[in-house]
Amino acid sequence: MNVGGIVHVPGDKSISHRALILAALANGTSHLTDILQSADVESTARVLRALGAPIPPLAAQMEIAGRGRRGLTAPAADLDCGNSGTTARLVAGVVAGHPFRARFTGDASLSRRPMKRIARPLEAMGAAFTFEGSDGLPMTVQGGALRALRWESEVASAQVKSAVLLAGLVAGVPIVVREPARSRDHTERMLRAMGAEVDSVGEVVRLEPVDHLGPLALRIPGDPSSAAFLAALAVLATGGAITVPDLCVNPTRLGFYRAMQRMGAHIDFHVGAPQGGEEIGTLFAWPSTLHAAEFGGAEVPAMIDEIPLLACVASRVPGTTVIRGASELRVKESDRIAAVVANLRAVGVAAEELPDGLTVTGGDAPLAGAVRTHGDHRLAMAFGVLAALPGSRIAIDDPGCVAVSYPAFWDDVRAAVSA
Ligand code: S3P
Repeated sequence: MNVGGIVHVPGDKSISHRALILAALANGTSHLTDILQSADVESTARVLRALGAPIPPLAAQMEIAGRGRRGLTAPAADLDCGNSGTTARLVAGVVAGHPFRARFTGDASLSRRPMKRIARPLEAMGAAFTFEGSDGLPMTVQGGALRALRWESEVASAQVKSAVLLAGLVAGVPIVVREPARSRDHTERMLRAMGAEVDSVGEVVRLEPVDHLGPLALRIPGDPSSAAFLAALAVLATGGAITVPDLCVNPTRLGFYRAMQRMGAHIDFHVGAPQGGEEIGTLFAWPSTLHAAEFGGAEVPAMIDEIPLLACVASRVPGTTVIRGASELRVKESDRIAAVVANLRAVGVAAEELPDGLTVTGGDAPLAGAVRTHGDHRLAMAFGVLAALPGSRIAIDDPGCVAVSYPAFWDDVRAAVSA
C-alpha cells in the first residue's frame, strides 16, 4: 500500500475546548482561528451559551466577547455535555466558582464516566455536588465563594487538574495541584498567555490569584491525536510518506509518537516557532519495519488517547507488545481495554486484557471481522486504520462516531491511501 500527501488535520480538541472556556472568562474580545468544528467542541459551545457567554457558531474565524472572570450567569436548563468529558469536567470547575447551581447531563457513555474525581477537590474548595447515581452524570453543582486549595490528585488527569485551576481562576484564590505523572498542560500554557501567573515544576502546578484575564489571540494548531492515525497509516504502508503541517507538538501530547519511534517507526518532527504558548511543527511519517515493545509508567498520560491505535498497530508487528499502567482507559468513552481486546480478537488477532492494560501478539495474516465501536470515536478510527490495509475485510458498526473529534477522518484516510 502506498500513502502520500500533505494532510491538514483539524484543530486540537483539548485546546479548542479551553479556548472557548477561557475566551468566555476573559475581559475583552478574543480572536480564535481554526477551532475544531466537531461534536465535542459543539458541546462546550452549547454549554457556555447556556451560561450566558456569547459564543457564535463554530467557524474558522471566531470573535468572542468575554464576560469576565466571574461573569457567567445561571443556566435556565440542564447543561447537556453530549459525549464530552472535557466539557463536563472543565465547565464544572467554572460553575463551582460562580454563585449559582447547574445540572450537568450527557449521553449514555458520558453518564457512566467518573465525576467524583472532580467533585472531591471542588468540594474541598467549598462547592457542593449532588449525584443522582453513585457517580457520573446527571450531577448538580452548587457554586459559591471558594477557598484556596492544595490538592494531591490520585490520577494523572488534565481534566481534574484543569477543573481545579479553572475554579481557582474564577474564584480568585491560589491553587496547587500535584499529579502522579504529568498530564497535558494546555490550560497552564493558555492561562499564562492570557496574563495569569502559573508555575509548573515537575508534577506540581501552582496558580496565583488572578484579577482579570486578557483576551486570547490564538490560531489553534492541528491535533496530534488526530494526526496519529495518519502517521500510523504511513508507518504501516509499503511506500510513500505523509506530511502533517501546523501540528501541536507539545511534548505532553507526543507519547504515541515516541512509542512508535521506540518500536522502530520512521517518524520525524520539524519544530517551528511557538504560537500562543504552544510548540508548532510539521510531522513526517514513512513506511517502517517495527518490532514489539513494552510500555507503561509515566509515558502513559502523554499517549492515553492513542493507546487503542498503538494496540492496533502492534497487531501488525511480530512479537508481543505489552501496555501497562493504563487503567484510565477503562473510564474513557468506552472501556477501551475491554473493547480493544474484544475487537482485535474479532478480526483475528491474539490479544489479552490485563487489569491495567493489554497484550497484543502481532502478525501479517489479513484481518477480517466485525468491529463494535460502542460509539467511541477513537476505536472507530484505530480500527479504521487496520481496515484501510490491503487484504483487510473489517466492518465497523458506527463509522459516523468519528464526528466527535475528526469529522473528515474517512475522507482524509481515503485521500492519503489513494494519493
Ligand atoms: C483531555 C484529557 C484526557 C484525555 C481527553 C482530553 C483534556 O483525559 O483523555 O481526551 O482535554 O483535558 P483525562 O484528563 O481524564 O486523562
